[in-house]
Amino acid sequence: MKSIKVKSPFSGIQVDYMQESDLPAVMEIERSSFTAPWDESSFREGIRSRNHHVYFLVIRHQQNPVAFINFWVVEEDAHIANFAVAPNYRNQGVGKYLFAESLISIRKLGGDHVSLEVRVSNIPAQYLYRQFGFQVVSIRENYYMDDHEDAYVFRLSNLREVDLCIDRGTHTHDR
Ligand SMILES: CC(C)(COP(=O)(O)OP(=O)(O)OC[C@H]1O[C@@H](n2cnc3c(N)ncnc32)[C@H](O)[C@@H]1OP(=O)(O)O)[C@@H](O)C(=O)NCCC(=O)NCCS
Repeated sequence: MKSIKVKSPFSGIQVDYMQESDLPAVMEIERSSFTAPWDESSFREGIRSRNHHVYFLVIRHQQNPVAFINFWVVEEDAHIANFAVAPNYRNQGVGKYLFAESLISIRKLGGDHVSLEVRVSNIPAQYLYRQFGFQVVSIRENYYMDDHEDAYVFRLSNLREVDLCIDRGTHTHDR
């Protein structure tokens, strides 16, 4: 069984469902993270639709959104569709923490097989996914519409067998 321990990066950090009031900060993160960002209506409609298969989570630090993730879960299958950390919060454990919290949520919702696409050039994200046991299962050629870069499809096929432990009481950094 794969065992992963993750610590909360700072005190004053909170994982929550995304609210419409988070959207200005979320859109700033989205636009600074991707060359072909989602538009605001995709987030707004996702939040409003209350589709019980689709989830948008944020991390707030001192009440301000600093990272978000979007995933869906249908029976045992889950897919992570969007995930980003604000540039000035990267490399401090925020992404790893939110990803771990999301996998725990996915597991509670019944998900066991989790997939996602990532640019072949996105080494930081791939490093993070591999730490959780994700592996490349295929390549989608010309997947990204803006520059035709290929995507790796990463998959974790047995989330229930991953021993995920989040320590929310001690912190890797303090800000
Ligand atoms: C990918 C991303 C979410 C990672 O978030 P983060 O908060 O910076 O990541 P963390 O600090 O939690 O680091 C997680 C792991 O990735 C590794 N990592 C982070 N940045 C890295 C880099 N530049 N190069 C190599 N590894 C890196 C770290 O080593 C860390 O593992 P460790 O602490 O156990 O060594 C963030 O870089 C980001 O938002 N990028 C732009 C959007 C994006 O690419 N989203 C994913 C689309 S598929």
